[in-house]
Amino acid sequence: MSGQSPLPAARAQELRDQLNYHNHRYYTLDSPEILDSEYDALFRELQGLEQNYPELKRDDSPTRRVGGEILSAFESVDHETPMASLDNAFSYSEMEGFERRVRERGEIEHIEYVIEPKLDGLALNLLYIDGVLVRGATRGDGQTGEDVTSNIRTIPTIPFRLHGDNLPDRLEVRGEVFISIDDFKRLNQSQSVAGEKLFANPRNAAAGSLRQLDSSITAKRPLSFISYGIGIQQGGEKAESYQQLIEQLSSWGIPISTESQVVSGLDGCAEVYADLLSRREVLPYEIDGVVFKVNSFQLQQKLGSTSRAPRWAIAWKFPAEEATTELLSIDLQVGRTGALTPVARLAPVDVGGVTVSNATLHNEDEVQRKDVRVGDTVVVRRAGDVIPEVVRTIPDKRPHYTEIWKMPNSCPVCGSEVLREEDKSVARCSGGLFCPAQRKEAIWHFASRKGLDIEGLGGKLIDQLVDEKIIATAADLFSINSEQLSSLQRMGDKSADNLVGSLSKSRKTTLPRLLFALGIPEVGEATARSIAIHFGDLEPIMQATIDDLQVVDDVGPVVAHNIFTFFRQDHNRKVIESLLRSGVVWETIIPQERLPQPLLGESYVITGTLRNMKRSEAKERLQAMGAKVTGSVSKKTTALICGEDPGSKKVKAETLGIQVLDEEGLQSLLRS
Ligand code: IVH
Repeated sequence: MSGQSPLPAARAQELRDQLNYHNHRYYTLDSPEILDSEYDALFRELQGLEQNYPELKRDDSPTRRVGGEILSAFESVDHETPMASLDNAFSYSEMEGFERRVRERGEIEHIEYVIEPKLDGLALNLLYIDGVLVRGATRGDGQTGEDVTSNIRTIPTIPFRLHGDNLPDRLEVRGEVFISIDDFKRLNQSQSVAGEKLFANPRNAAAGSLRQLDSSITAKRPLSFISYGIGIQQGGEKAESYQQLIEQLSSWGIPISTESQVVSGLDGCAEVYADLLSRREVLPYEIDGVVFKVNSFQLQQKLGSTSRAPRWAIAWKFPAEEATTELLSIDLQVGRTGALTPVARLAPVDVGGVTVSNATLHNEDEVQRKDVRVGDTVVVRRAGDVIPEVVRTIPDKRPHYTEIWKMPNSCPVCGSEVLREEDKSVARCSGGLFCPAQRKEAIWHFASRKGLDIEGLGGKLIDQLVDEKIIATAADLFSINSEQLSSLQRMGDKSADNLVGSLSKSRKTTLPRLLFALGIPEVGEATARSIAIHFGDLEPIMQATIDDLQVVDDVGPVVAHNIFTFFRQDHNRKVIESLLRSGVVWETIIPQERLPQPLLGESYVITGTLRNMKRSEAKERLQAMGAKVTGSVSKKTTALICGEDPGSKKVKAETLGIQVLDEEGLQSLLRS
């Protein structure tokens, strides 16, 4: 070794390759190999090189993902082959009709279909020439779309360069751009904190984000992409079936649906439709139906297309998620930090199979923007596990007596003044822990599943305990006795004993849980975990300065300030002292650098009932060893950990040939 550093051009190429590789592992395979901080260091090194040597800048450089180009308008792009649409089926009998036509026109009895969720986003057409991404366009009218290349370059799952040999010379990759439900919630939360307009739903948020003239705004939006087919393909290996095609796309580095599977005949289609409909609420993204595609390309060709849509595919739509109903009143809900949320009380209405009688109106500005008034007929929407919301009113149905809604000046629960910071959309009750509503919310958060996980302590019981003045803070929970509980309405001796038992069990907790449970503004589960792992114990966190706190990966200036302020408030310190006196304990954590992480890069799913530990504990212990623990089985899952009475996940793991571990297997994995 000469000890000389490599030439800038060679190093830049090395960095580009490494960053593209790790990007793919992180976003598409969900299986990172390096720490975020290591990724950032490589990224900054490349940024530095490109700044010092502008000639080293490349279109496929990962630094291009931060955006920056500002356009005055989008240019039009002609797709190389038109982007068709899909026909819809709204009932079993319409689906039956489709399936019969396929069999009759195709002249075969048994047909294989590939199924995919129908993602509710926007269609995108990507053009790769010699494996390099050169253009991205919206669908437009199917013939001509808008050139959104600089925006789609900021989407981390879209590869700049395809991997593998024998790539096509020219390839159009088609798929859906969308925002996952968790990302959508986070995005709206930060819109709200920044006093910006909220997005009505993930689809609108995705559309608004993709059609930004300033790509650095798009770069900040959590867009995802999943491919469902191709347009033109010149050169390269040609697939013979849809299943082969998506496997090939995946091997080139293009994300495809992890839910995709091959089924046979109408019965197979109906089964997956029912399965996805039942799981609709727990999927990480919104879907509005299931797409069925004839698997064989030869048969697809024989069936052909109409001018609008292929005859070999159909979208079997789910029941609508919007309905209209009457708005009976607007109440205010007081959150843990005093935020006042207007909530619509509605005449109960069925929305996509669920009865809805409450819906959020988000905040004062939203009520005013939509001009929602008591007495209006309103459109209500629910989707995924997003809280139902009032989308708009129907002006023609407005009765003559309605009045414009206004935020009151005092808190409806404690009467304290309502304050609204300048430039913020949130109005807050200024009562702090004097306000019983805030106290109840704080206790509920403390006891919640991600907090101290106190089984049997629900919202109604907390209401009673606070109203009867048995408790005032979370710390008081641990001095409640069975007699006090039995004196409450609707509380039998057995439930009282059970609750005392679960309170005593919850005393033994973990530092991340405790930190989350304290309810520091904007410290969620993941942030609490990062802080706990970084500092190891509560005392150093309480002593930490704002600068110390910002060293933690997840922690920016706002969160650091919230944590610092929280621990300097007398009433919070008192609650902590009282928790310690009541015997709340946790193990100190060995800082991460010193901990072996033997399961780094591995991904597990846990299902069924475990006999010897809670699933949440198993999850935490696997995470502490570096593993990822996810909610659904995919090809990327290392193993499924299977307790008693497993559901469909076990079948799926077996179908995909993924290792299944029983509880003993889990124990030995944890011992490893
Ligand atoms: S296939 C020729 N597959 O639905 C077939 N589309 O209503 C073209 N969509 O424009 C589309 N998920 O934006 C297909 N798995 C999926 C899909 C899907 C969502 C969207 C797509 C399309 C629209 C048609």
